[in-house]
Amino acid sequence: MNLNKDYWEERYASNNLGWDIGYVSTPLKEYIDQIENKNLKILVPGVGNGYEVVYLYNSGFKNIHVIDLARQPLDKIKAEIPEIPASQLISGDFFDLEIQDFDLILEQTFFCALNPELRKNYVQKMLQLLKPGGRLAGLLFDFPLSLNGPPFGGSPKEYEELFSPTFTINVLERAINSIPPRKDKELFFIFEK
Ligand SMILES: C[S@@+](CC[C@H](N)C(=O)[O-])C[C@H]1O[C@@H](n2cnc3c(N)ncnc32)[C@H](O)[C@@H]1O
Repeated sequence: MNLNKDYWEERYASNNLGWDIGYVSTPLKEYIDQIENKNLKILVPGVGNGYEVVYLYNSGFKNIHVIDLARQPLDKIKAEIPEIPASQLISGDFFDLEIQDFDLILEQTFFCALNPELRKNYVQKMLQLLKPGGRLAGLLFDFPLSLNGPPFGGSPKEYEELFSPTFTINVLERAINSIPPRKDKELFFIFEK
């Protein structure tokens, strides 16, 4: 299966959006709520309909960049945040992103949407995008990796092996505030460059 732009745009066109919960997830909301510095430069890759982006924006964070391969969700975010600069709504491939020096990158159902062969590239790209001391934080699924994705799963052990050579693992634990359908199926994490 080629998980390219056409694949994802077709998922949006046919409203086949099993991942889209329709609101900011509790773990991301509560993580965002405790961030005091509203000037952080934030990236949300594979943003989809970006409910956390609207939440961030309405909470006073303005230096937010988002990227997605599919055009439709970016149009939806633009409609909800008309004042967001076009340069911060990026239509394209995460692996080609050239903007750097992010303080924070938020992950939710983007890692699991990628072909598992790209996982090492994901780690390297995150390292390149973050400033020293910057954080990659959010949610990773905790169910066995199979080829029946997306979503493609993983385990704490796999994530630790993947990220610990280059990131400091500050937190990697079962999320305690998951939305009900994801209860006991996801890990909350904070990895620091
Ligand atoms: C499973 S959806 C998750 C969307 C959103 N994060 C959420 O939680 O609702 C994965 C998203 O990643 C996007 N995507 C997949 N591969 C991508 C890539 N290489 N670069 C940028 N976006 C990508 C898809 O278009 C899709 O919107």
